[in-house]
Amino acid sequence: MTYSRIAGTGRYLPEKILTNFDLEKMVDTTDEWIRTRTGVERRHCVAPDQTTSDMCVEAAKLAMESAGVGPADIDMVIVGTTSPDLIFPNVGTLVQHRLGIPSCPAFSLEAACTGFIYALTTADKFIKADAAKRVLVIGAECITKLIDWDDRNTCVLFGDGAGAVILEPSDEPGIMACHLGADGQYKELLYYPFGASKDLAKAGTDEAAIRMSGKDVFKVAVHTLGDVASKTLDAAGIDKSELDWLVPHQANLRIIQATAKRLDLPMEKVIVTVQDHGNTSAASVPLALDVGVRDGRIQRGQLVLMEAFGGGFTWGSVLMRF
Ligand code: UT7
Repeated sequence: MTYSRIAGTGRYLPEKILTNFDLEKMVDTTDEWIRTRTGVERRHCVAPDQTTSDMCVEAAKLAMESAGVGPADIDMVIVGTTSPDLIFPNVGTLVQHRLGIPSCPAFSLEAACTGFIYALTTADKFIKADAAKRVLVIGAECITKLIDWDDRNTCVLFGDGAGAVILEPSDEPGIMACHLGADGQYKELLYYPFGASKDLAKAGTDEAAIRMSGKDVFKVAVHTLGDVASKTLDAAGIDKSELDWLVPHQANLRIIQATAKRLDLPMEKVIVTVQDHGNTSAASVPLALDVGVRDGRIQRGQLVLMEAFGGGFTWGSVLMRF
């Protein structure tokens, strides 16, 4: 049987940093409120002319370098994003072209904050089916362009970034189990109020901003993330005590702590990066993964559980031996 494994990782964060103290000057908030309620200390924001594909390209170059592969070795590109450069062509094709990756399937996939987990799971299936050999999988967002900067309920939470991995075939796992889920009944709790086929005239108006009922999202997120982690571990026949690392979606430190608690994992075994970039939606898991890999905490052969939860709601997790 063919499995898939992550051969290399990379990340990119935009240059501009907005601290909690900067936000104190913009809305009625405090560094203390943001840190204690969310764990966020700073976030990165794209320049006005910078796009999601710009960030993808930088993260992808580092992932290819760490995997020891070049553009000609890639035969599929999947980008999880909810903030594409254009409605079409999709970000996958933009990245493919700019990196000089030869003709191959390239697409974007939209599952809000779970976008990378959905993309990685999809890539895993293509490799297992022998339908792809080496997949560039990216999670990336220009989420600060979708924010109402006068709304303290949301503007303190989010940031921009991109994380990428190279997924390739392996005789041994690799990815051991994936679990995806969604429940569209929760649409009103976290959404962006227009798109190409609905209310496009709202673009550029005051209504063009993320809407979120934070408390309600929080409750469902904590419950669901604990559940999805157990399902993925069960599917692989792995006990939670065997886990070396949890790489969670970086939305809120309190949600991360609650998930770790349900897994009986000490926080020393959790990669936490939310303080440095806030909630980067689909980028957050691959960003955190790359941090853990590059600083030497996540070692080859270790058991890593990644999980995410986002608008829709969507959720998912991937268990792998790195
Ligand atoms: O990535 C996709 C999934 N997204 C998430 O997982 C986000 C989930 N939700 C959360 O992380 C949290 O619910 C928030 C961080 C968004 C909010 O934290 P909370 O502890 O649930 O606060 P809250 O919404 O209940 O608000 C508590 C108080 C309110 O004031 P009152 O009504 O008690 O007087 C808010 O108006 O805090 C107020 N507040 C703020 N105060 C200072 C809300 N935002 C701010 C702010 N600064 N930025």
